[in-house]
Amino acid sequence: MTGVGIDAIEIRTGKLALDLAETFAPAMDEAPEKYTKGLGVRSSSLPDVYEDIVTMGANAARRLLERKGLELDDIGRIDVATESAFDNSKPVSTYIAGCLEGVFEGDLHHANKGERKFACISGTQSIDDAYNWIQAGRNRGRAALVIATDMALYARDDPGEATQGAGAVAMLIDTDPAIVELSKEQGYGSADETDFLKPNQQFPSVDGKRSVQVYLARMREALTDYESVAGDVRPEDFRYVPFHTPFPGMVKKAAMLTYRHMIRDTEIEDELASEIGRQPREEAFEDEEAFREAVREYMDALKSTDRYTEWYDRTIAPTIELAGQVGNWYTGSVHVARASALAHAAENDEDVTGKHLLVGSYGSGAQAEGHAETVQAGWRAEIDALDIDDQLEARYDLDFAEGTSTRDTHFFAARVSSLAWFKRREAPFVITKRLRRFERLLSVALAVGTARRKNLFSRVKRARAGSGR
Ligand code: CAA
Repeated sequence: MTGVGIDAIEIRTGKLALDLAETFAPAMDEAPEKYTKGLGVRSSSLPDVYEDIVTMGANAARRLLERKGLELDDIGRIDVATESAFDNSKPVSTYIAGCLEGVFEGDLHHANKGERKFACISGTQSIDDAYNWIQAGRNRGRAALVIATDMALYARDDPGEATQGAGAVAMLIDTDPAIVELSKEQGYGSADETDFLKPNQQFPSVDGKRSVQVYLARMREALTDYESVAGDVRPEDFRYVPFHTPFPGMVKKAAMLTYRHMIRDTEIEDELASEIGRQPREEAFEDEEAFREAVREYMDALKSTDRYTEWYDRTIAPTIELAGQVGNWYTGSVHVARASALAHAAENDEDVTGKHLLVGSYGSGAQAEGHAETVQAGWRAEIDALDIDDQLEARYDLDFAEGTSTRDTHFFAARVSSLAWFKRREAPFVITKRLRRFERLLSVALAVGTARRKNLFSRVKRARAGSGR
């Protein structure tokens, strides 16, 4: 069998934008530099009142199928990765499949559908599932659709509010892929952690500072585990290293950790020794805190070397460009980072065919996964077909009060009596009406034909009558 990997990608951003430095920071009585320099995120994408994880995911999937000239019969599997699901039983993929069936010929009755949960890493896990399904020969010639879709919204005044975002990434996983082929080798770092939770509640409970440390600890384990199967990794092995990006400042920390690991016991460490000394070795310290302090000092020094900044600017900075404009998309975030890197290569007319990526995925709770990808010959055409720049340009700029009310609308903190949207609604997939208990049945109403829509309404009526409402 030829390789398996990502054959196509579509990105759908929420239609609203909150400028963090200009709008959010002043309202929070904070310095804009906390966002532009510290967290590294300039604005967040938020969903308009008629958008949610289904509409964003379905719109991304629809454009992907249309652009690739695919029919529903070509898709054998749909997995949705999300942390924003609204149903503990019926998977979001069924709603998205219903939307697609409303606008394409045929149906998806033959397709295996599911929903993957492990915080932000579940998008990558869904790709892994699709990869295994195809490699096992169970796909009957069909491709898999993986859709990572999330509304990463936080409670008012939660520090996480600064890192919110909303959007969907749809990816086609197939043999002989156009964009990247996945490595067989993977490395994991996984442990029972409680730094970020959503136990049947609207907003996450987050121990933010600890979550940063847990991310780094699991990523370190995943890197070591990956090396145990793939051999040592070195900085020059990879053209780009896309990480899960809750905010770009987090990636700066992960990049430093990775680089320090990659240069240990190499000529690079030797060459840098005259400038900044050698890396502290734990065995040389009796006291753990003294060792940690020495590591912090070494990293501070390493950060300002030309060698590191050149590597960072070339390998990491392009991966966080898009995240800095859209915020955290949870499950979609690492896939946004990959697209951001490849868009950078396209903008600079660099042919990265045959080059390698080291992809660092992460999900709270917590698990990191590292694997390599090899860029394929069709990458440029696929990246050029993305319309994300136009979507970003077209976003409506929220003021602070609008940002707060939009978030409340999505989570019913305020009762929604009317739909006052910011951007013009575009068919096919928009929420047309909200009901507290049967929201989803109506949400896809614009996506389906009249007969089907009538059917949906009568199902809602029957359900409401049955529940005495
Ligand atoms: N100029 C320059 N830099 C500034 C600044 C200024 N005026 N003010 C602050 N900064 C810097 C700070 O020094 C800090 O940088 P360092 O971490 O490098 O020191 C950075 O800006 C953020 O400042 P604070 O730490 O003061 O920010 P905060 O208290 O508001 O919390 C946070 C930051 C903990 C990340 C919070 O936003 C949060 O809880 N986010 C949600 C959780 C999260 O994203 N965790 C990431 C790992 S978990 C994960 O990855 C899964 C996921 O998707 C959620």
